[in-house]
Amino acid sequence: MNLEQLVRPNIRAMKAYSSARDEYKPTDEVTLLDANENPYTTDYNRYPDPYQNLLKYKIGKLKKVGNESIFLGNGSDEAIDLIMRIFCEPIIDNIIIPDPTYGMYEVAAAIQNVTVKRVPLSENFALNIDDFLATIDSRTKIIFVCNPNNPTGNLFDSNSLQKLINSFQGIVVIDEAYIDFANSDSFINRIDEFKNLIVLQTFSKAWGLAGIRLGMAFSNPEIIQLFNKVKAPYNLSSVTQSLVSNLIDNNKDRVSTEIEQLIKDRQIMILELEKLHIIDKIYQSETNFILVKFKDHQKVYNQLKINKLIVRDRSSALNCNGCLRITIGTPSENKKVLKVLESL
Ligand SMILES: Cc1ncc(COP(=O)(O)O)c(C=O)c1O
Repeated sequence: MNLEQLVRPNIRAMKAYSSARDEYKPTDEVTLLDANENPYTTDYNRYPDPYQNLLKYKIGKLKKVGNESIFLGNGSDEAIDLIMRIFCEPIIDNIIIPDPTYGMYEVAAAIQNVTVKRVPLSENFALNIDDFLATIDSRTKIIFVCNPNNPTGNLFDSNSLQKLINSFQGIVVIDEAYIDFANSDSFINRIDEFKNLIVLQTFSKAWGLAGIRLGMAFSNPEIIQLFNKVKAPYNLSSVTQSLVSNLIDNNKDRVSTEIEQLIKDRQIMILELEKLHIIDKIYQSETNFILVKFKDHQKVYNQLKINKLIVRDRSSALNCNGCLRITIGTPSENKKVLKVLESL
């Protein structure tokens, strides 16, 4: 892989925004008169650390990687958008995604005017690597794989993913938004092995911090430098940085207890759903949601809606006809769903 050639020429050529503060160490005693801030303190009168060093250090300890291998963004959606803008030339380049998968890859591509080539998953939502390889052309810059996949809930075979990363000369993004609920190792452990790999994770799911908006990209330092070059200088607020730094110190036990609980409740939900005659198929899940194929999904959806229970209708996605995606809630929320389904 030639990273230089993969990057858009304008991104290669541009100079990143630089701040006068980049010339000083964080430990230097300085008087800050460079950024037109209000000098009277409100705790938040200063711009935040643009490289989020303390937060990265804490995340790096959790994930066993160095700060130089981490990009932090306003949700992993920011990372998806930046990856598209770093590598894909509008109109000329293309990306490949499995079908069905998470919708934001396609949205980010549309914003950048980049063609999306969809590779259908099998009826059981397995990934056929040869189909992916056959779809690559000389203008394919990125392959996105969501693992475990949204909305299907399944994990892909890791040997197949390895083959895909090895065989492609462009960037492979493995989006692990749901990996904490899965019985699988993260590809973060392998970012040194594959120079074309970017792994995405998020604080929005297992960590219960969707409202904070904090996403992570892990890759080799050269690729992380590209993120740093194109990101908005102060993309994460001081509030996010300090709040999550503290939560990492104090909330690890809460998070692992909740993950265990959600996995247990996912199993209970599957066992209860299996008893219902209104269901055609329950797809195996390695996430905090279940994809369920109903005999009459519209009737089920409407009945849930009447009861103010919101689930996601995924019936228009490929091989998902009749399917609703149900997030695992608290035990009492799950019971409410089951009660409505049992009444049908
Ligand atoms: C696969 C996948 N990736 C990324 C995201 C977005 O995560 P974030 O909240 O970090 O932007 C989601 C959200 O549903 C998702 O399902």
